[in-house]
Amino acid sequence: MVAHKPDRTLGVFWLNASETFINIQYSDHQEDETPPVKRRRADPQTDVHWLSESGMIDCMVLLGPSPQQLFAQYAQLTGYQALPPLFALGYHQCRWNYIDEADVKSVDAGFDRHSIPYDVIWLDIEHTDGKRYFTWDPVHFPEPAKLQQHLEKKNRKLVIISDPHIKVDPSWSLYCEARDRGHFVKDREGQIFKGSCWPGESSYLDFSSSATRAWYSRCFGLDKYKGSTPSLFVWNDMNEPSVFSGPELTMPKDAVHCGDWEHRDLHNLYGFYQHMATVEGLITRSGGLERPFVLSRSFFAGSQRLGAVWTGDNVANWEYLKISVPMVLSLSLAGIAFCGADVGGFIQDPEPELLVRWYQAAALQPFFRGHSANVTNRREPWLFGDEVTAAIRTVIQQRYSLLPYWYTLFHQAHTSALPLLRPLWVEFPEEESTFSVDSHYMLGGALLACPVTEPGIQEIKVLLPGSDEIWYDIHSALVYKGGRTLSLPVTLDTVPVFQRGGSVVCRSVGSCSCTAELRQLPLSVTVALNSQGTADGELYLDDGHSFRYRDRKVFCLRRFSMLSGRLLCRPASEEGTFDCNTVIQSVTILGVKSKPSAVIVHASGAKDISAAFQYMETCCKLTVNSVNLRVAMDWEIQI
Ligand code: GLC
Repeated sequence: MVAHKPDRTLGVFWLNASETFINIQYSDHQEDETPPVKRRRADPQTDVHWLSESGMIDCMVLLGPSPQQLFAQYAQLTGYQALPPLFALGYHQCRWNYIDEADVKSVDAGFDRHSIPYDVIWLDIEHTDGKRYFTWDPVHFPEPAKLQQHLEKKNRKLVIISDPHIKVDPSWSLYCEARDRGHFVKDREGQIFKGSCWPGESSYLDFSSSATRAWYSRCFGLDKYKGSTPSLFVWNDMNEPSVFSGPELTMPKDAVHCGDWEHRDLHNLYGFYQHMATVEGLITRSGGLERPFVLSRSFFAGSQRLGAVWTGDNVANWEYLKISVPMVLSLSLAGIAFCGADVGGFIQDPEPELLVRWYQAAALQPFFRGHSANVTNRREPWLFGDEVTAAIRTVIQQRYSLLPYWYTLFHQAHTSALPLLRPLWVEFPEEESTFSVDSHYMLGGALLACPVTEPGIQEIKVLLPGSDEIWYDIHSALVYKGGRTLSLPVTLDTVPVFQRGGSVVCRSVGSCSCTAELRQLPLSVTVALNSQGTADGELYLDDGHSFRYRDRKVFCLRRFSMLSGRLLCRPASEEGTFDCNTVIQSVTILGVKSKPSAVIVHASGAKDISAAFQYMETCCKLTVNSVNLRVAMDWEIQI
C-alpha cells in the first residue's frame, strides 16, 4: 500500500501470500467521537484494515518520506526491476492463435509490407500437440526450429506459451517424469491433485519446491525442448493457478505443496515461482549469458526481478482502455515496472477508432502487445483500411524512435527503483491537484502522457502541473506554462505528450523494422529548457541482450546538461566501457528566447566548428542538424 500527502509518502508492505482483504476507509470528519477520549484530528484520516487467512504478521512500514525514497526502500526489500533485453520493449504481435507456420510467416511479412516495425510474434496454446507444453502440433508446426530461424534472420523472436498445468497422459514422457519424480501438487489425501484446464484433466507442477523448479528450468534446455532455439522466449499463463473445476476457478486451499504447506498458505506465490523457474531456465539455456524474457499473468512482490506482467483478459471496449492506465500505474507504484494491457482488448472486436486509441495509449506503456481471443476477428494492424493502418504505423514508429529513452528509464528502474510510469504526484508531490489524476501520468521524469481513451472527442483536458514549470508539446513544440489545465483540440491522430522544461530526451532517427535495426540508427537529442534556461538528462546504452553490462560493466551512461547556453555531453558514471559508435545526428533546443548569432560545436580533440542551424521564433525552437557527434565522446555546443 502506498499512501501520500504533500509532505510524506509512506508504504506498508504486508508480506503474506494467502487470501488477503484490505479494507480502506476514508474519513474527512474532523472529530473522532470514539470513547474514551474525544480528540481533534488535524487531518482527514484514512483507516486501513488488513486481514489474511493464514501465516503470520510480517509487516513493514516504509517511511519514505519522498516517493523516490519509498521506491528505493521497497526495492531493497523485494528487488529491482530486471533490465529486459531491448527487443522486449518493441512491439509484440500475439493472437490466440496463429494457425500454422505459414500463417506466422505471412503475418511477419505483413509487418514488412506495411512498414510497421515489430520484434516478436507469439504462439498461444494451439501451437502444442494437444495442449502438452514443450511439444509442437505436428500438423501445423512441423518445423518449429526452421520457423524461428526464419524470424531470427530478420532479428525477430518467437514467444510460446507454457502454462503450469500438465495434461494427465501416461503416454507422455514429460508427464511421467514429473509424476515419477514427485513434481506435482497433492490433494489432501496425498494423491496427485487433478483438476481441469485447457488440456482437460491436468496435474499442476509444485513450483514451491526448489527441486521442481530446477527440473522445470531444465525443460527449457535446448537439448530437452525439441524444436526450440535461442530465439524462443516464454509466456507463463493461467498460473494463479487457473483450475476450471476448482473452487473460485483455482486450486482448493487444502491441496498440499512440498514441505506439507497447504495451498492456502502460498496461493499468491504460485505464479511467481513458475515465473522464477522459467526465467532460470532461459538464463541457464544461454549458459548464463543472455537476458531472459518471460511474461507472467500471476505475480507477487518481487516479480519485477523476473520480467514482465500484463493485466489479463480485458474486453474490447472504451471502459477497459480507460482503466488500463490506472491499472499499469498501480502496478508501477507496486514495483512492477514492466507491465501492460492487451492492445485492442482480448475479448470481443474493437471498432477501428478504439483500436487506434488503444495502440496510442499502449505505445506509452512499458509492455506493448496486441492480443486477441480465439473467437474474435483477425486484428493485424493493416486489416482496417489505410487510415487505420497509417495511424497504427505512426504510433508504433514513434514508440520505436523513443526506445533510447525507454531503455534509459529501464536502466533507472533497474538501478534506482524509479518506476517508468509515474502518477503525476510522484513528480509533483506537493501539488494536491495532481493527487487524484490517473488518466495522465509522467513517463520517466521528462514526458507527460495523456492518451485519449474516449470515443469521438474533439478536445481533451490535460493538467500541466507546476506554476513555475514550462511544458512543450512534443508534436507542435508549442510552449505552455504549468499550473493550469489545458484544453487541447484532438483528432484521431493526436496523442498528447508534453516534454517538461528542464529535461533532455534522446530518440532514434530514421526507420527500422525491429530493435536490432534501431540500434544502428543515429540519435536526436531534444533539450527542453526550464525557466532558468537549464536542462539535463541521461542516456543509457549497452549491447541490448547480454549480462555483460552487469558482469563486465560493458555499458555507457551519458549525461547531457545545459546551462548558460552551453550543452555538455559527459559521462554520467565513472563506471562502464562500451565501445559504441552511436552518433547524435541532430540537437533541438526548446525554449531559446532569441535567435543566437552563432552555434559553436566543440568536440574533444577536434577544432571548433560553427554549425548551421534553424531558429523558429514562434515556438523558440533551435535545431542544429548534421552535428554527427559520437555519443560516447565528450563534446559541447555553445549557443
Ligand atoms: C488466458 C490468457 C489469454 C490466452 C488464453 C489462451 O485467457 O489470459 O491471454 O490467450 O488464456 O491461452
